[in-house]
Order: sequence, then C-alpha cells, then structure tokens
Amino acid sequence: IVVCTKCRLSEGRTHAVPGEGDSKADIVFVGEGPGYYEDQQGKPFVGQAGQLLNELLESIGLDRNDVFITNLVKCRPPQNRDPEPNEVSTCTSLYLEKQIDAINPKVIVTLGRHAIREFLPDVGSISQVHGKVFRKGKRYLVALYHPAAALHQGNLKEQLKKDFQVLTKVLKTI
Ligand code: URA
Repeated sequence: IVVCTKCRLSEGRTHAVPGEGDSKADIVFVGEGPGYYEDQQGKPFVGQAGQLLNELLESIGLDRNDVFITNLVKCRPPQNRDPEPNEVSTCTSLYLEKQIDAINPKVIVTLGRHAIREFLPDVGSISQVHGKVFRKGKRYLVALYHPAAALHQGNLKEQLKKDFQVLTKVLKTI
C-alpha cells in the first residue's frame, strides 16, 4: 500500500495510511479516507475525529489495539474532498477486500455514508441506517455516523454515542 500508484490520490500524499490495530481483530472499523494528520503520520484516525473514536471505543471498554482501523481509500484526497467512485473501487478491490479477508473479522463497523455504501450499495441514507445492524454473508455490519460529522453537529455526537452501544450487544452474540 505504501508504494501504490494505482490511482491519482497517490500523487498528493505524504504517507499512505494502510490501517492499524490487531490483525486478528473481531471488529474492523472502516472510515472514508485519511485527513491531514493521518497523511502526515501514516496512521488512521489520529486527528480530532480519531480522538472522538478513541473515546467512543473507551466508552464500550475497548482500545484501539483491540480492533483494526482502516479506511476505504488509503491516500488523502486533496483538500479532504470525497473520494471518487473510481478511486474507491480501485483501492477497495486492491486492499480493503484483502485486508478483510486476511483479518476475517466477525463485525465490520462502517463510519459514514461512503463506507456503508461500499458494503450495502442500495442502502438508504446514513440518517436512515445509523445504529442498525445488518448481516453480510457471515459477518455483522454496523452502520455508524462518521465521527468527523459528529464533531460538527452536537446532536449527531449524542446519537453516535448511543449507536456505539449497539456494538456492545453485537459483541455479546459473536
Ligand atoms: N477520517 C477518516 O475517514 N479516516 C481517517 O483516518 C481520519 C479521518
């Protein structure tokens, strides 16, 4: 991943951000793509959204090291624009799909609308599906709001905190 040049997002990157955590985790979190700090450090969710993610994990008794955290695209889109469909499909078919196959988690948690669409293309808007649990093959899929969106909208933050509790329930069943 760190030497990939398969799409133009590689042209603007400082570091690619493959993901990090437990390579045998039961839970994989999938965000959208690296932001400024992630690009600088080569690590996922290390900026403000990452701080919130850490707090949310802590609220259900988990630590970043207990899960695996990654993104749909591994290189920062310019000015943090949305990743384009061809960038997402190139990157996910080369990397995310293989990461998920290799880790073989029981639960995939999608953060934001882009990530849930990757797994359930026909799903409604994120405001309709947040906090819901789906089944995709042998895995559970939990759709959550993106922590960055929650940082800017207080009501989403409260909702995201509540939705995170759903994970506790799912973890009891696996
Ligand atoms: N937002 C994301 O979607 N991913 C990150 O790694 C950081 C912020």
